[in-house]
Amino acid sequence: MYASFKSIGAYIPPKSLTNKDLEEIVDTSDEWIKQRTGIENRFLATDEQSTSDLAYEAAKVAIERSGLKKEEIDAIICATITPDYFCMPSTACVVADKLGIKNITAFDISAACSGFVYGLNIARAFVESGLKRNVLIIGAEKMSSIVDYTDRTTCVLFGDGAGAAVIGTTDKKEEAILDVHTSSDGEYQDFLITPGGGSKYPCSQDVIDKHMQYLKMKGNETFKLAVNTLTKDVTRILEKNGLTSDDIDYFIPHQANFRIIDAVGRKLKFPEEKIVLTVARYGNTSAASIPMAINDWYESGKLKTGDLMLLDTFGGGLTWGSALVHFNQKSS
Ligand code: ACO
Repeated sequence: MYASFKSIGAYIPPKSLTNKDLEEIVDTSDEWIKQRTGIENRFLATDEQSTSDLAYEAAKVAIERSGLKKEEIDAIICATITPDYFCMPSTACVVADKLGIKNITAFDISAACSGFVYGLNIARAFVESGLKRNVLIIGAEKMSSIVDYTDRTTCVLFGDGAGAAVIGTTDKKEEAILDVHTSSDGEYQDFLITPGGGSKYPCSQDVIDKHMQYLKMKGNETFKLAVNTLTKDVTRILEKNGLTSDDIDYFIPHQANFRIIDAVGRKLKFPEEKIVLTVARYGNTSAASIPMAINDWYESGKLKTGDLMLLDTFGGGLTWGSALVHFNQKSS
């Protein structure tokens, strides 16, 4: 029995925030943002929407497209660094309640931008071990809740959104998730960090005054590590599975920065038409970025059942990963 990627869904929040809008908020320019990141726009949730609301909308679409009844889902894994609640309940439990699904395994994982690929690996292990049959994985973020809109080095990068997929079973290798690899290196924990509000620096007036509850990033150092690590990781997963870039239908990387995607894509000799790019429209939506990109390609009619996707990701922790996945959605 193999694990199989049975469906995709996404939710794009209603408020658009353009580079021109950001020029009014911080000392930046449309030109700088486009040149350094490729980002032109991002979408933000409303004040009333929390991460579980975005996740719920994406999950509904993914379940419907999987052709399964919601009662057939036996686990929900939500990857997020912006949970509804700081400690508990998990966002996955809140989403299960919104979906009307009871008595199943539901939990969150924290692997920053790599969360969806980490979730995919856990879902695959659940399904292939026979422990679960249909696992709903979600990547959902309200990044605007941890972004400091006085810090121009980070606030131009991030957007909100959600994506979801159902991982089920198949007995055919050509419909299967072929491989998933995840990794980390805590030595670089301070490259991407929300320093305050946890047990190290619990919430206090001092934490708030110093803006320590917000995301901080060593952008340039992260950039260099991302390009090298991703190139090695993707090369490794292709070699391990006896594949080359010619065998891949779509390369779907985490959408953090056009320059990172371009550098990795060139090193791996992917032609432009095989590289999925959504960073211009959505910015970096952390754990939601890969499923949102898959959904865009599916809804635009480019991604077809049977296509082999190569996913890659890099994020806070530091964490990274890659995956070789057949898209196996049978109904629309
Ligand atoms: N507008 C104008 N100028 C700016 C802005 C801005 N928004 N932000 C920074 N600058 C300035 C800096 O102050 C600096 O000025 P200086 O030279 O006078 O000091 C200059 O631009 C260059 O800054 P760098 O940080 O060196 O710029 P860089 O080319 O590295 O681009 C960026 C910054 C876009 C953040 C890039 O480093 C990057 O994409 N890093 C990787 C991000 C990533 O992949 N993160 C992982 C996933 S995220 C997650 O897990 C949650």
